[in-house]
Order: sequence, then C-alpha cells, then structure tokens
Amino acid sequence: MVTPRLTEDTIISALREVKYPGMSRDLVSFGMIKNTRVEGADVYLDLQIPTEDTQVIAKVEASVREALGRIPGIGTLYIQTVRRQAPQESAPGPAPLPGVRRIIAVASGKGGVGKSTVSVNLALALAQSGAVVGLLDADIYGPNVPRMLGEVGRPKAHEGKIVPLVRYGLNVISVGYLLGDQSPIIWRGPLVAQALKQLLHEVHWGGLDDRALDYLIVDLPPGTGDTQLTLVQSVPLTGGVIVTTPSVVALMDAERGLRMFREARVPILGIVENMSYFICPHCQGETDIFSRGGGRQVSESLGVPFLGEIPLNPAIREGGDHGAPIVVAMPESAEAQIFRAVAEKVRLAAETAAEAMPQMTIR
Ligand SMILES: Nc1ncnc2c1ncn2[C@@H]1O[C@H](COP(=O)(O)OP(=O)(O)OP(=O)(O)O)[C@@H](O)[C@H]1O
Ligand SMILES: [Mg+2]
Repeated sequence: MVTPRLTEDTIISALREVKYPGMSRDLVSFGMIKNTRVEGADVYLDLQIPTEDTQVIAKVEASVREALGRIPGIGTLYIQTVRRQAPQESAPGPAPLPGVRRIIAVASGKGGVGKSTVSVNLALALAQSGAVVGLLDADIYGPNVPRMLGEVGRPKAHEGKIVPLVRYGLNVISVGYLLGDQSPIIWRGPLVAQALKQLLHEVHWGGLDDRALDYLIVDLPPGTGDTQLTLVQSVPLTGGVIVTTPSVVALMDAERGLRMFREARVPILGIVENMSYFICPHCQGETDIFSRGGGRQVSESLGVPFLGEIPLNPAIREGGDHGAPIVVAMPESAEAQIFRAVAEKVRLAAETAAEAMPQMTIR
C-alpha cells in the first residue's frame, strides 16, 4: 500500500482532534500549535501552552504524540513545548488604554489588499451588533479612512485631548481628519511612532459622553514597519486580523504579517480573504479571478481561524470611495452579510483571546 505524503495539513487535521484538558476546544483552534514543519517523515512543531502546570503539559504532550503516532508512516516527532508564562509572572506589558476594552489590529503584509475596507466594514458591523466601537486609522502616511467614511469636519480638543469624530455611530480618528487632505505627508520613522502614540493616548476614545469602547479597530498601513512595531509596543492588543487576497504573493506576505504578530505574542484572531471571487453582475455567476481558497489553506496550515471570503464587487469599492461603506449603504446585500459574519467570528475570537487564555481554569 502506498502511504500518502505527509504534509502540514495532515498534522494540523490530526491535532484538531486533540482537546485541551478541561476544555471543549482543540489545540489548533486555541492557536497552541505553532511552526509546524514536515521534513520527510519527521515532524517539527512548537506547542505553546498557557500554563506552568507540569501535569497538564505532560498530558497535552502525550495526547499530541498519541494523535500523531496514529498517522501511517510518521517518523520522529520533534515537539518543542513553549510555556506561555502566567500573566502575573510575565514582564509588564504596555498599560491598557483607558476606556477601551479590546484593541484589534487589521494588518497585511501587502498593500492594497483591502485592510481599510475590512477595518471600516468590520467596525461598522460590530457597531450594528450593539457594541460601542472606535476606529483608529493608523496609516499615518496615507490615511484611507476619511475617504471611506466621508469628510465629517475636524476633531476638536477637550481638556487637552482630542475628541474623536462620530460617523455612523463609530468614534473615529485619522491623521487625515487632523491635517486635512492637502499635500502628501512626509514623516520620518520616529515621527510616525510619535504620531501614532498620540493618536492612541491623547484621544478621549469614549467621546464627550465618555462611553467605554468595547472594541477599538486599528487600520494599519501595509507591511511590518514602524507603525506595527510601535502599536504592539504601545498598547495591549487583544488580537490581529490578517487580510489577504488569494494571489500567491499576497498569501506569502500574509504569512509575514502573521509571524510579526506571533513574535510580538499578539493572538491572531484569523485571516480574511478579500477579493476572493467575482460575482458577475449580469449572470450572477461566480468567477475565481485569483486562486480562491488560498487564505483558507494558509490559515489551516498555520493553525489560525479562517474568518471568511469577501467577493470582489464594485459596490464595495464605490461604498468606500463615497463615504458610505457597504455595511451601512446596503445592509441587506450579500456582501454586508458576509462582513457581519466575519465580524461575529472576530468578536468570538477576541473574547476567547482576551478572556479564555489568561483565566483558563484547568481541571
Ligand atoms: N472586495 C472588494 N471589492 C471591490 N473593491 C474592493 C474590495 N476590497 C477593497 N476594494 C477596493 O480596493 C482598493 C484598495 O482597498 P483598501 O484601500 O481597503 O486596501 P488597503 O489594504 O487598505 O490599502 P493600503 O495598503 O494602501 O492601505 C480600494 O479602492 C477599495 O475600495
Ligand atoms: Mg489602507
């Protein structure tokens, strides 16, 4: 009998069957399996376990070995267990932002894949579900949010801090609103860091009525540069959402973005595949312009949740160009429903990341 070739997918699928002790969820969906690599028949992986309890660690390691041992033809398992320190023992991270419960960054390695589109529609969908939501346009060089939400005046100051503008119920801040839309902005790295810190810390995020934000969505510029670094160092991020298109180049860049979050120990809430497929406005037929499904494959092989596929649709671009994003302009459209489904997955992942991990009770 020919044994099927061993791949990372085989490993991840097998580990999806392994539950974390005392929990109903599996190790993969918790994001505890990292850096899976197959070399011939041998398997390398990191097991990131949020406990110091040696009994639990031994139990998880044994279940992993047992599950993988059942795969026909598997060679040696090289499992490195990375113990995530209990919160009280870890080095103090950045202080929380007053009045903000969860901070979610939207990132991509590659430009133009739809981060701002996803950020804006995600923020609006969360707000539609009843949450109090803020949106920070962290693209200091090329802010997109004012175009996407429309020009709604200049933010004012109150007691020495900036008051966000309110648009479709979102509390919004962007350098574009502060400086206007004139000449291109030329910043040097240190100034970018300083500007972002001000946008985070010198804003009354709750607005004048001082309502605490359930979520602050941060729309990042592309890549892994000064802004990303400053953000992860300045505030405790609940998690990151990675946006990609199905093209191979974008997927490779998505992996880079993912590694950045992992290295900074920011939980990855999931991957969104944007411009996934095209629906013909005439015949309603679906065409996969790029190789649809790449985002799902990347998320499966890297063991992070897949949040959804957003089609390429001119209505999404027009909404973004005219200050009326599709989630509010056409709330009944299939695309708005997809954004709302993505938002619901992000909400669940964010709650899990924020609450389940540090307070996980182990029996
Ligand atoms: N699903 C989609 N269907 C149609 N057009 C889209 C879709 N997603 C994004 N666009 C359009 O593609 C362009 C780029 O999107 P967007 O500005 O959101 O990308 P970005 O990743 O934020 O770019 P940048 O890296 O420059 O910040 C915009 O004109 C936007 O309206
Ligand atoms: Mg953008």
